[in-house]
Amino acid sequence: MAKYGFPYMGSKADIAEELIGILPAGKRFVDLFGGGGAMTHAAAFSRKWKSLYYNEFNPLCVDLMRRAVNGEFNYKTFKPEFISREDFFAHKDSDGYVKYIWSFGNKGDCYLFGKNIEEFKRQGHQYCVYGESIEGVPDCAYDDLKARRMFLMNYCAKEFKQIINSTPTMAENYRKYQEIINPASKLNREVARKQALKFTQWLRSTGITCKEVDDLTGSQMGSHYMSNGSQPAIPMPDMWQKIKQSPKIKDIPQEIELLCNPDLRLQRLQRLQRLQRLQQLQRLQRLELNCGSYTEYEHQDGDVVYCDPPYEGTAEYSDSFDSQAFYDWVASRDYPVYFSSYEISDTRFHQIWERRRCTKLAAISNQIERIEKLYCSKPQKQENEQLNLF
Ligand SMILES: C[S@@+](CC[C@H](N)C(=O)[O-])C[C@H]1O[C@@H](n2cnc3c(N)ncnc32)[C@H](O)[C@@H]1O
Repeated sequence: MAKYGFPYMGSKADIAEELIGILPAGKRFVDLFGGGGAMTHAAAFSRKWKSLYYNEFNPLCVDLMRRAVNGEFNYKTFKPEFISREDFFAHKDSDGYVKYIWSFGNKGDCYLFGKNIEEFKRQGHQYCVYGESIEGVPDCAYDDLKARRMFLMNYCAKEFKQIINSTPTMAENYRKYQEIINPASKLNREVARKQALKFTQWLRSTGITCKEVDDLTGSQMGSHYMSNGSQPAIPMPDMWQKIKQSPKIKDIPQEIELLCNPDLRLQRLQRLQRLQRLQQLQRLQRLELNCGSYTEYEHQDGDVVYCDPPYEGTAEYSDSFDSQAFYDWVASRDYPVYFSSYEISDTRFHQIWERRRCTKLAAISNQIERIEKLYCSKPQKQENEQLNLF
């Protein structure tokens, strides 16, 4: 699991260490399009630079980064309030935490949970964070938020397994399962069925066969996980882990991952907490957070400048970004500027690295494999070029 920065659309979290390894050492690491802070965070851990400069245009993003670094999201003191759909729409344009942590895909526009499961999620949240009871679920003795969460998840999984063994038909199992995991709101079955069909349709599209699924899971659930009509089912997390071992299962859309692994959503809060480790650097004045445009940056001797702008030809960011103006800015610098992108239309730059990667920008419905590239405005030294060959 990516561990750098906070969850953010277009985050470099999963390749941050690799990119940081390629960039030259220097006095200060400059992250001009900082976003969720993955590159600044990874740069801090690498110790390649004495100080760090995080810049970002979006004030809500800078605000969230600043609050995370200042320790506001430390589990010991932070008891996150459940943000309802109503709260989300009331505060998303003024509070970066609400906007990015409580939105679907961290895109900041749609609320994290579907209407049908919001009440269930709220109860789970109150149970884990505040120790409140849920009807039909035993109280948990643990104080720790993570332990309570595990207890609740395991309880649901265990109950489900028991039901599987005790009821005659899958339809009955499925109905009871919905009641157990969702005691309060009685998940709308039609919606649940649509979600299951979304999963089964995707699984069929991977080319995996029913027999392969049965062999991997050691069960006869393959026909349900791949059903296109009757009794479709989403695998429980342990079954899902087994199915993922198939080489045919790759490029898993985020939406599918979340259907099989609802617990993943809570990891976004843990990621916020990790940023607190940068607090000491900030106190030592070795980390500066700035809100502004890349064009306002003033170069200092020893700066290594990295840019991760909205990519040319992608429309995921609400504000339009002028890629050509950015290329002209890069080309007119008298110091090297490193920047990430896919293929670009401007031929003035030198590609120094590439890697196939599944983008999460468009992951809500379709995750696409793209070739992620790193460019530099100046030619690289021979040794770097040779390094790239191997
Ligand atoms: C691809 S995201 C950066 C993601 C980041 N590297 C991470 O790992 O989370 C691009 C960012 O550029 C920001 N941005 C757009 N225009 C900008 C500008 N003129 N100056 C600085 N940042 C800008 C967007 O708000 C967005 O957060």
